[in-house]
Amino acid sequence: MIDAILPTYNRADLAFERGEGAWAIAEDGTRYLDLGAGIAVNALGHANPALVAALTDQASRIWHVSNIYRIPQQERLAEMLVEATFADTVFFTNSGTEAAELAIKMVRKYWDAAGEPERIEILTFEGAFHGRSTGAIAAAGSEKMVKGYGPLMPGFRQLPWGDIAALKAAIGPQTAAVMLEPVQGEGGIRVMPDADLREIRALCDSTGALLVLDEVQSGMGRTGRLFAHEWAGIAPDIMMVAKGIGGGFPLGAVLATEKAALPMTAGSHGSTYGGNPLACAVGTAVMGIVAEPEFLAEVGRKGALLRQRLEGLVAAHPAVFEAVRGQGLMLGLRCRVAPTDLVKAGYDQHLLTVAAADNTLRLLPPLTITEDEIAEAVARLDRAATAVEAALPTESHA
Ligand SMILES: Cc1ncc(COP(=O)(O)O)c(C=O)c1O
Repeated sequence: MIDAILPTYNRADLAFERGEGAWAIAEDGTRYLDLGAGIAVNALGHANPALVAALTDQASRIWHVSNIYRIPQQERLAEMLVEATFADTVFFTNSGTEAAELAIKMVRKYWDAAGEPERIEILTFEGAFHGRSTGAIAAAGSEKMVKGYGPLMPGFRQLPWGDIAALKAAIGPQTAAVMLEPVQGEGGIRVMPDADLREIRALCDSTGALLVLDEVQSGMGRTGRLFAHEWAGIAPDIMMVAKGIGGGFPLGAVLATEKAALPMTAGSHGSTYGGNPLACAVGTAVMGIVAEPEFLAEVGRKGALLRQRLEGLVAAHPAVFEAVRGQGLMLGLRCRVAPTDLVKAGYDQHLLTVAAADNTLRLLPPLTITEDEIAEAVARLDRAATAVEAALPTESHA
């Protein structure tokens, strides 16, 4: 008999009752050190007092107002985002997937308004993840996500990850946009080098294609800059944001330049909940903290510290780990074993981590994690790796 919950997830048998900062506390009181943060969502940790105050204050005033009225909380957050980024305008969604849908629609509308409605091809990269809607799975194109869901939305072509020569060969007057994550999350914490991002921007400029960046996982301070593309000194035309922006409250956004967004006139898109006062009150509190240069510098410093300790783990467990990769506090350990074995061994050490593709273990702690917690996390990961190592056939031990 099918479960009451549609069984689309492989869930661990763990249920958390509450959280405090970097700690998730199970129903039996066991404290787990959380290096997953809801997969890069709880950017400011669990039950952050500033976010609890913003949410409860708003909850006591008004929960929901339709977008047929002005929503001052939404206006404030949009202004903060416009002020802090390349963007001239923002549309709020409830998730990253919805942001991806709008980004795709915006690209199509842009070329339609430019008198080239047939210009629909969006170039993406293998290993991409933009969500699970029909448009987002067509954009990513991976067998695992699209199997059984055809026919797919047309207009996407996947290129090998980071293959600039393939991009040069594929891009042309038929290209509507290039869409990518500056750091692939689900794809295995794969960083697009700054020089390549600059080259992609230049290729878009020379052909007129729009550059769409998906910063759902890499954004909101995770890499030590407000958005990861800032490291390369470039700006996209359209950007998707979600996860960290709501700190755990469902919120997403599409940010765009005026030029890219100009055809999106009244009636061209909408959402019942998108930009609701509760979500935007929390989003404003998150932005107020995360966009501060001192906060971002701390993320960079703690990211470097964690990375250095992880390099030590790789050296200590060469049969388990191959390399560290990532940026800031968006880090991955490329494994020589199944990363899910490490996730499970982590549970035994009361440590939460997340597996990703390309044999990678993801570490996405709250950006507020302390130095002591980083040391504790690495000690637990060390014990988890030792347990996995002990279970390996003898000849693969280092
Ligand atoms: C880069 C990226 N884009 C889009 C999404 C989809 O976001 P959501 O699950 O909020 O719909 C995700 C989720 O993991 C993501 O990592």
